[in-house]
Amino acid sequence: MIILGIETSFDETCVSLYDTQKGLIDNIQYSQKIHNYYGGVVPELASRYHILKLKKIITELFLKSLLKYNDINCIAYTAGPGLIGSLMIGAVVGKSLAYTLKIPSIAINHIEGHLLSPMIGKNKPTFPFIALIVSGGHTQLILAKGIGLYKILGDCIDDAAGEAFDKIAKLLGLDYPGGKMLEKLAKFGTSGNYFFPRPMLKTPGLEFSFSGLKTHVTKIINNKNCNEQKKADIALAFEDAIIDTLVLKSQRALNITGYNKLIIAGGVSSNKSLRLKMQKMVDKINCKLVYAKKEFCTDNSVMIAYAGIFRFNYNINDNLSILVKPKWSIEETNLVQDIHK
Ligand code: KG4
Ligand code: ZN
Repeated sequence: MIILGIETSFDETCVSLYDTQKGLIDNIQYSQKIHNYYGGVVPELASRYHILKLKKIITELFLKSLLKYNDINCIAYTAGPGLIGSLMIGAVVGKSLAYTLKIPSIAINHIEGHLLSPMIGKNKPTFPFIALIVSGGHTQLILAKGIGLYKILGDCIDDAAGEAFDKIAKLLGLDYPGGKMLEKLAKFGTSGNYFFPRPMLKTPGLEFSFSGLKTHVTKIINNKNCNEQKKADIALAFEDAIIDTLVLKSQRALNITGYNKLIIAGGVSSNKSLRLKMQKMVDKINCKLVYAKKEFCTDNSVMIAYAGIFRFNYNINDNLSILVKPKWSIEETNLVQDIHK
């Protein structure tokens, strides 16, 4: 079976073709650079750029892969969570194309896409496991027993980890999205020159909060006349504070549940220090860590196509109504649950 995946939930316009026998056929991604100018994603512009680019990259994808439209069996598109306008573009294009080709379309939950992304490749983790989803919009610890069997153990009560990375990066004069740039800058930092609090560690449970840390670091940046070295020191101390918090809360989730497998996914999971510190932690308590290839950590359509494979037999909706869910929780993705109900 060949499946076309479409991802337009935020600021990346992505399409891919995935073959259930042979794996990934091809993948095209257009990153909307326009948002750099504003230092964050402007929803209206994101939708407009999806409209401009989506049809173009679908055509390009088929040309590149030497496949014909009639070769595909199904279309999977992100139906939430995300920006409503952006989601609508992917959903309208996905459903219309599927209708024209007389093939099924499947609405995919973006967070489930991230959660399954470490399975794209050879060493697939098997259920059950604990998943830490760390992206620009989410910081969640999820107990995953199988496809559609998810329980959120801990959520973020304010800014997500990636959002905090982006905001501090902006204050340090880095481009949007700032996580990756901040990681690069932190490499030049000297450890020990700054120390920032690890939020919510003294609070029992698995909730996250990064807004206080962000405000604390913001005040320090604003009060200092920061030269390049000070900026790098602050970036390193900030990165350490976020990572230590993520590692300790993940360890707590493994301890509480007794599970021995942790997967990390989402844009922030591509951070090298996070991977190293997380690996150290799981080794210490005899658990296993799995993460996705770097290109599948940040938003991509391969994870959407991949999630579509699991849902192909259950979640097909052939009626013509188009529904997206900007606040769709992964807990509301029972395998046989229809988004339209
Ligand atoms: O998963 P993703 O592409 O989009 C959402 O679903 O939100 O995650 C994007 C987030 C951004 O906030 C970005 O700054 C962050 O992931 N990010 C990183 C790194 N690469 C991307 N944060 C820290 N270190 C990185 N290397
Ligand atoms: Zn994402």
